[in-house]
Amino acid sequence: MSAAGEANESATSANAPVITVDGPAASGKGTIAAGVAQAQGFHLLDSGSLYRLVALQALESGIALDGGAALASAAENLDVVFAGGRIRLESRDVTDRIRGEDVSAAASQVAVHAAVRTALLGRQRAFRRWPGLVADGRDMGTVVFPDARLKVFLTASPEERAYRRYKQLIEKGISSTIDGLLRDIRERDARDAERVVAPLAPAADAVVLDTTGMTIAAAVRFVLDRYQATGPDRPEAPAGKVDR
Ligand code: CDP
Repeated sequence: MSAAGEANESATSANAPVITVDGPAASGKGTIAAGVAQAQGFHLLDSGSLYRLVALQALESGIALDGGAALASAAENLDVVFAGGRIRLESRDVTDRIRGEDVSAAASQVAVHAAVRTALLGRQRAFRRWPGLVADGRDMGTVVFPDARLKVFLTASPEERAYRRYKQLIEKGISSTIDGLLRDIRERDARDAERVVAPLAPAADAVVLDTTGMTIAAAVRFVLDRYQATGPDRPEAPAGKVDR
């Protein structure tokens, strides 16, 4: 593609509609975001996977979880490929590995560093492309895509979230206890909500949805209805190319 073509591409990508889905651990963000993306034919950004990848790299290469500069450098240099629902780090499939509870706990420690968050910003924004993007995480509506068309903040009681995570792990054949998961979720909630940089909180213009006792299908429907109510998508003609 020509340099001008690339410039046009990025100019239009910046206008692509974004739906943000933020919320605490195991609130259903990932599943609901994926359902909405599929229904709309939109791209999907699971921003938590980036923090998990940095955490895995740190655990494996002995980078201290309190070393902001070294972690940021690892974040900057992540050699990752997202394709066909799988995640490859330096050519190794780590899709399941990064869901482990050790990586989950390390990810929320990695995520407190401002330098790490800054290092991941461009990588996250690069996911914004036509026909649109659904981005899930903690700060999608507040920091990464403040101009999103629709911002949703999901909540659910800690007990329900621990139970959901328990069922997910059982399905994967990983043993755990609800008490242990509840404790981990509470610790992670506290760390995510209390950190100084991009703390977990709904954007002022977010729609808050409590999914306790709600099915996934109903939550997806809710988001799609809200999105449709924001009006039609208006793709802009690429700059410099005028249709006559
Ligand atoms: O699905 P779950 O909430 O368990 O985890 P996740 O979304 O994959 O995020 C893992 C960790 O990364 C979280 O505990 C947050 O500390 C951090 N994170 C973040 O700080 N900002 C984001 N946009 C996404 C995740």
